[in-house]
Amino acid sequence: MSAEKQQELVRGLEGIAAGETAVSSLVGGLSYRGYAVEDLAKNATYEEVAYLLLHRHAADAQQLAAFRQRIASATTLPDEFWRCLYNLPRTTLPMDVLRTGVSLCAAWDPDAQDNSPEAELRKSERLIGQIAVILAGWWRISQEEAPLDYDPAQSLAANLLRMIRGDEPEEHETRALDVSLILYAEHEFNASTFTARVVASTLSDLHSAITAAIGALKGPLHGGANERVLEVLQEVGSPERAESWIRTALAQKRKIMGFGHRVYKLEDPRATLLKTYCVDLAQRVKQLGMEEMADTLERIIRDEKKLPANVDWPSGRLYHYMRLPVPLYTPLFVAARVAGWAAHVMEQHADNRIIRPAAIYTGPALREWK
Ligand code: COA
Repeated sequence: MSAEKQQELVRGLEGIAAGETAVSSLVGGLSYRGYAVEDLAKNATYEEVAYLLLHRHAADAQQLAAFRQRIASATTLPDEFWRCLYNLPRTTLPMDVLRTGVSLCAAWDPDAQDNSPEAELRKSERLIGQIAVILAGWWRISQEEAPLDYDPAQSLAANLLRMIRGDEPEEHETRALDVSLILYAEHEFNASTFTARVVASTLSDLHSAITAAIGALKGPLHGGANERVLEVLQEVGSPERAESWIRTALAQKRKIMGFGHRVYKLEDPRATLLKTYCVDLAQRVKQLGMEEMADTLERIIRDEKKLPANVDWPSGRLYHYMRLPVPLYTPLFVAARVAGWAAHVMEQHADNRIIRPAAIYTGPALREWK
């Protein structure tokens, strides 16, 4: 295309197909490699879903056991790695620690510079375990407590809850977290996945792509929203205040975190699925008042702005009912999405052309340098 040809601008690339993928689809509902998320959320575990995303087929019992074992083995990071984390100010945000931590993992990864499909699979599996121990370990370090070890006999969800909170989670909590991880695991060409693919398209390596994706996910318009959801609900304060609070906020044209979506204009199926778990947990921990507040906001935002709640709206509440610290909500999103990101990096490398779009110039006309 000639440089002079006028381009048509689509702000935010809305609706533009920027590539092909066999990882997931939004056509006829959200599905991962041909399986509806409703089906996976009901019948699968996060490890089964991660295996499916990375290996492109469902695991049999033996493959799953070996996969879980490989994830667990990767969680032993060298002392030098932990020393780096211990040297960070305790106030460092967990998302920043994860971004740095994933980048640092490359330093000790024997496959770091190898972009072959076999090496990328090995690195992806390792990162699933490593991210879980980094996020939980950092939380405990920041609280002046020693990190806890990953237990190979437990699921990733159970390990996360135990390694963060320091107590044994109940089964219903583990399953609720597991479902949220399944729903967070993959979502087509969202901003962070696209970031990962852009990095991969330069033939850079998996750790670089995932590090960049974490940076993209951190933003409040993307994964960072699940932490802001709790701030919103805390600001509202009580079910009685909910209606006046939201009407004032909308009149002030405030953006309400946890609502709206680039693709879902009527309903985010992930939000619908997670809400059931939210109500169940709220009942158990006697926090139905928060669900009442959430319902009021949801109803008025739908009526007034025609915006649906997105996945971050229930997940923020869900993690709160599990007594998980707010700064870990987006890192938990990372712990799940790493499987999707890695699947996309491998897909990009398998059929690559550098991603390099065009821009419409808005600066001064050509002039002479004096
Ligand atoms: N609260 C209030 N208004 C919102 C809104 C929200 N959460 N999300 C979108 N809107 C409004 C926009 O201001 C815009 O109104 P306008 O036409 O009067 O300007 C309209 O709805 C369309 O939204 P738009 O910004 O074009 O959507 P987008 O596709 O560019 O952005 C999001 C999508 C997700 C970034 C956006 O909805 C948002 O910022 N949501 C809050 C953050 C969030 O929850 N992110 C997690 C997504 S999973």
